Amino acid sequence: MPSELLNLFDYRARAKELMPKTVWDMVHRGAFDEVTTRRTRPAFESILLRPRMLRNVANRDTTTTVLGHTIAFPVMPAPPGQHQYAHPDGELATARAAAAVGTLMVLSHFSNYSLEEVAAVTDGPRWFQLYAYPDREYTRDCIQRAEAAGYSALALTVSVPSGPGAVLARETEARNRFPYPDMPQGNLMKKGPDGVERLLPVLADFDPALTWSSLDWIRSVTSLPIVVKGLMSPHDARLAVESGAAGVIVSNHAARLFDGPITTVEALPAVVDAVAGRCEIYLDGGVWRGIDVLKALALGARACLIGKPLFYALAVAGEAGVRHIFEILRNELDFAMAMCGVRTIGDIDPSLVTRPQLQAV
Ligand SMILES: Cc1cc2nc3c(=O)[nH]c(=O)nc-3n(C[C@H](O)[C@H](O)[C@H](O)COP(=O)(O)O)c2cc1C
Repeated sequence: MPSELLNLFDYRARAKELMPKTVWDMVHRGAFDEVTTRRTRPAFESILLRPRMLRNVANRDTTTTVLGHTIAFPVMPAPPGQHQYAHPDGELATARAAAAVGTLMVLSHFSNYSLEEVAAVTDGPRWFQLYAYPDREYTRDCIQRAEAAGYSALALTVSVPSGPGAVLARETEARNRFPYPDMPQGNLMKKGPDGVERLLPVLADFDPALTWSSLDWIRSVTSLPIVVKGLMSPHDARLAVESGAAGVIVSNHAARLFDGPITTVEALPAVVDAVAGRCEIYLDGGVWRGIDVLKALALGARACLIGKPLFYALAVAGEAGVRHIFEILRNELDFAMAMCGVRTIGDIDPSLVTRPQLQAV
């Protein structure tokens, strides 16, 4: 890899030079006035570390588990759709890279390659991200296809109650007349009564009437554990636990659907309190450094996921780029652990982080 690509921000800068502006805007920009988008990095940066010393940090170990799968370090790909906008190998490259570095692949419902095509290129652990469509027959087929193809959990995205709104909110995309979707949509084909496969309307038709009891319906058609993706409120986190979720992903969908929510790292502590150890908690949104991973884990997350950096790595170097950004994050996390007096992931605790209030002097 070129020596100037030292960190994930370097990948972003290089990708900006390489990507067509319309694709860059589609990936990079947030909803409406981008208030939450702009707050995301400062929110991480406002949390500081209280490193500990003289605690024997030889033989550090970054491995952990997510729903029983061992992963080499606590970072996974998030499930953004449409990886082919960044590289022709799309999700195949991301899945191969995830397996090569020893993490778990989370595949988007809106992947360009079908869930079976992705399963065929990796033996690594994988979850399938599901959007619930009002067409229950189609949704059930999707769930059962994922189960048959060896996906071991469903990440049900609940942060998109209305598809068309999502497109409205990204005004840059509207101005650019982004031709979404002009790529293959591997999981969105449905056979009609006439036997002909047709593309379901992307983003146009999620079920706005979904409630917590919809999880019961999902459980009636699959035995896969459900991870609820897109929670920000402790009340919802409690309801997720009571509805039998095996995990929750604290996520505001990269603030690309709606503007104004707090950032995920700000939302995390209340969710952790509400869940009180009853299910696993993951976080995505604005994770760009190993230090961010350490902070999120100290605040109670089990693992983090990264979304936008996947596109930038794919655009710069395909599968090798995705492998490299995960290696960078793992090395940065390992170094941060050494500097903070932490030997294993289990040793990371809330005493390592603080949000200092500066006193005027
Ligand atoms: C271009 C793009 C497409 C996305 N598509 C999906 C999707 O299909 N399903 C989903 O659950 N999340 C989707 N997301 C959200 C990501 O899964 C993830 O929550 C978010 O990108 C994490 O924030 P980060 O980009 O700051 O790492 C998308 C994000 C981006 C940037």
